[in-house]
Amino acid sequence: MTKVIKNISEWKVIRNSEDLKNKTIGFVPTMGALHKGHASLIERCLKENDISVVSIFVNPTQFNDPDDLRNYPRTFENDFKLLETMNVDYLFYPEYGEIYSDNYRYKIVETDFSKKLCGAFRPGHFEGVLTVVMKLFNIVRPHKAYFGEKDYQQLKLIEGMCKAFFMDIEIVPCPIVRDEDGLALSSRNLLLTDEERKIAVNFPELLKSKKSANQIKEELEKLGFKVDYIEDIEGRRFGAVHIGKVRLIDNVEL
Ligand code: PAJ
Repeated sequence: MTKVIKNISEWKVIRNSEDLKNKTIGFVPTMGALHKGHASLIERCLKENDISVVSIFVNPTQFNDPDDLRNYPRTFENDFKLLETMNVDYLFYPEYGEIYSDNYRYKIVETDFSKKLCGAFRPGHFEGVLTVVMKLFNIVRPHKAYFGEKDYQQLKLIEGMCKAFFMDIEIVPCPIVRDEDGLALSSRNLLLTDEERKIAVNFPELLKSKKSANQIKEELEKLGFKVDYIEDIEGRRFGAVHIGKVRLIDNVEL
């Protein structure tokens, strides 16, 4: 049975109880609309810890586009069923006021890498991400936390935050899970039309090709994608594109 926790006060009682004493706590933060990518993080968390906590919170402060926040898929019933079948111990499912009692007056700001790649196109995005992850870490107090390489820049920024603030949490990177045709799984894939989904496969295919970043950008544009960036940094190629109303990101090792 997965226990749903909506209030921080309720969780605090459990977190400080005898039941959790001397147990290792693993944590997987998500925004829901769970798919096999999330499930791979959760599986690993279940394997490596005594107690597993998953959070579902569609964090408004990391959405720079109000339409993106409004359209973000919400599939709570299915998410909860998945967590139950996987035997996750706790689902933390807070409301906005619980997390942002300060009305977002306090923020975590990184001043360098967070301004590049997605940060250059999504103002305030990584402030929102780092702030909510800091809050969730302080609430859950896990020993280990699991993040996907799908959001590689996010993963690196969270690792950096933990180091900068001497946070005693081990960040565990997990490999990208892809659909059979190579498209990285993403909650936003649910929003693609059948036609767009067919075109989307060109994105991972071109990203992993031997072509230059510029060539890939041109070819994607010819295919009808709007390209935010295709960029090579430290042996990794990063990309972000729009197909219709949906924004997709991906990255591959070079
Ligand atoms: P969300 O997009 O729901 O992703 C939750 C976690 O699942 C992230 O660590 C993400 O990298 C990982 N993930 C998503 N798709 C994946 C895939 N195809 N393969 C492997 N891992 C994948 O990322 C967020 O939520 C939010 O920014 C959050 C960290 C929860 C803060 O709000």
